[in-house]
Amino acid sequence: DDESEATLRTPIVAVLGHVDHGKTSLLDEIRGSAVTEGESGAITQHIGATAVPLDVISEIAGELVDPTDFDLPGLLFIDTPGHHSFSTLRSRGGALADIAILVVDVNDGFQPQTLEAVDILARTQTPFIVAANKIDTTPGWNPNPDTPTQRTIDAQTDRVERDLNENLYELIGDLSDNDFSADMYWRVQDFQNNIGVVPVSAETGEGIPDLLTVMMGLSQRYMKEEMAVDVGGPAAGTVLEVTDTQGFGATVDAIIYDGTIRADDEIVVGGVEGPIVTEVRALLRPRPLEEIRTEGQFEQVDSVAAADGIKIAAPDLDDAMAGAPIRVVGDRDVDDVIEDVRAEL
Ligand code: GTP
Ligand code: MG
Repeated sequence: DDESEATLRTPIVAVLGHVDHGKTSLLDEIRGSAVTEGESGAITQHIGATAVPLDVISEIAGELVDPTDFDLPGLLFIDTPGHHSFSTLRSRGGALADIAILVVDVNDGFQPQTLEAVDILARTQTPFIVAANKIDTTPGWNPNPDTPTQRTIDAQTDRVERDLNENLYELIGDLSDNDFSADMYWRVQDFQNNIGVVPVSAETGEGIPDLLTVMMGLSQRYMKEEMAVDVGGPAAGTVLEVTDTQGFGATVDAIIYDGTIRADDEIVVGGVEGPIVTEVRALLRPRPLEEIRTEGQFEQVDSVAAADGIKIAAPDLDDAMAGAPIRVVGDRDVDDVIEDVRAEL
């Protein structure tokens, strides 16, 4: 491998947690803050994934982030459903992730799918932090929108602060019952052996600056070496879902975690009956809401580099399998690539 080709790719962040604890709201809030900061064009709603570039993170995080401290390009968030029946999607998200956010409703504490998520993260050895969400629902809470968490907690009455702390320490107890040593994130020195807890509200944006700062810091500190990939090389990815797309037939929604995929590449995709060899017909990305009416739902792009989400249209994808690998053949022998894919099925 030529080291001069290595580029730092975006870390993949899985957002996991029990149903209704606020995973999607948290990502909505991050997207919304970017819009407020006049960065609406910068955040793209990709297939099953939200890409947030570093300059947007530093806008949202304000005083907490100095962008010159970082050289990773941003964060790619993957939302997952919390309903108990979607356990394969959760493990797929966990397996894809470099790091994760475990979202827990601070009033509800650990629930069945929180425990399931913790098991997935432990099994896949994925470092994670806990977003203690819905702090704004503490009775008597006085919201300070988009403020760092310690500042808004300090601004509450003693009684509100005491009630919140009670819930937070119960949550830290839940983590400890599951053999994770945890503490409020500002007291954690060694994030490899301790889980940081970040009190947040997806409703008011309180604590979101902290959440992004901690995720960025964690990635930079512990993931940087793994993020050095040959972005120009043939792509590797995972099928999130097999979908029907009007005008294209069977397509796959994929996360690309290595290399680049181009609109005419030969690819091998894991299928129900074994590896499928096919050629990319189109790489499709959802259009921003305001363009859908005039331009149709998707725009075609020429290439996609890791890490990113993309919808791939190609012949013969009907039997493609969610969770299966995708490989661009490039200048390798196609039989070798087929064997690689078969080995991973
Ligand atoms: P699933 O995808 O079904 O697992 O749920 P989810 O974790 O994505 O939860 P979602 O974001 O859909 O939020 C569930 C409900 O909680 C919605 O009604 C949200 O408006 C509400 N909610 C989420 N976060 C907050 C918060 O921080 N404060 C308040 N007050 N409500 C919140
Ligand atoms: Mg959701």
